[in-house]
Amino acid sequence: MPLRLFLTSGDLMADRRFEFARDLQLKGDLAAAADLLEQTIELAPNFTSAWFTLGEIRAQLGERDKAIAAFRKSRESDASDQHGAHLHLMRLGDAQLSEMPKAYVQALFDQYAPRFEHVLINDLGYRAPSLIFKAVVAARVAAKKPALFRRAIDLGCGTGLAAAAFAKQVDHFIGIDLSPGMVKEARATALYAELEVADMIEGLRTKSDASANLVVAADAFVYLSDLGPVLSEARRVLASGGVLAFTLETHDGRGSGRGIVLGEGLRYAHSAEYVRDAMAKAGLKLLTLEQASPRIENNEPVRGLVVVAEKT
Ligand SMILES: C[S@@+](CC[C@H](N)C(=O)[O-])C[C@H]1O[C@@H](n2cnc3c(N)ncnc32)[C@H](O)[C@@H]1O
Repeated sequence: MPLRLFLTSGDLMADRRFEFARDLQLKGDLAAAADLLEQTIELAPNFTSAWFTLGEIRAQLGERDKAIAAFRKSRESDASDQHGAHLHLMRLGDAQLSEMPKAYVQALFDQYAPRFEHVLINDLGYRAPSLIFKAVVAARVAAKKPALFRRAIDLGCGTGLAAAAFAKQVDHFIGIDLSPGMVKEARATALYAELEVADMIEGLRTKSDASANLVVAADAFVYLSDLGPVLSEARRVLASGGVLAFTLETHDGRGSGRGIVLGEGLRYAHSAEYVRDAMAKAGLKLLTLEQASPRIENNEPVRGLVVVAEKT
């Protein structure tokens, strides 16, 4: 994603130096950029954005230990970790595979919100909502049940693309998203009867048992490592015969975390085997598990899965 978070140091001189260092980084003069960042940090020792950028540059230079030290400082100087230094520490093997910092996801999508649909649809050939829509309709046709749902919950609803895909199928849509910026865009569509700024698992926890007929998550579970908690909450919230449908990114290997890998794009990828196992543990009946690419990245289709399950 081209947008970039900047957290000011509060020191004008340090902020200016940082900007020069970023220019050098973008021009490819990584060694000079790293030197300038070291000087910048002398002026402002808790300058999170400078530590984070230094971590990236050290990693680009192949200086793993120095990269780890800088990313640790970035995480220390902003405990909420809006830059997501922890993700880089996971990728560098310095931290166990664990969930993403929520502040990172929120900051990422708040910045991205105004341009999100344009970038996804025009530049990335995004189709997670339509993959889910087609898979749900096909599963309902196969089960000889109507693809109409009274109450639906859209997890990680973003700007509302999944609600647009299902608009004719659902009476009452509830959207839940961590990012206030994305929820603002979703509100403008008028597709949702209810919208909440919340973590999707926390949002589900506030819903009554058997209160929804459909739960969807388009390209949102890629920001969760362990799918167990969200699957079991979705099962509780679904009425009997209710449907859960979502997309994932995937891979063939087992990964260090039982089939979960944190990819280069800083999204989790889950193996098909992991999904089967997680569904069984959550007590959901798997109806569909198919390979399908949700979008293009670096001119290549991203490997993905579309999953439909039912609460029996
Ligand atoms: C790639 S966007 C997809 C948005 C939308 N579902 C769509 O298909 O256009 C992922 C969304 O998931 C949200 N998200 C990520 N992690 C979340 C979490 N733990 N709880 C709630 N929302 C989350 C992000 O804020 C973002 O809006």
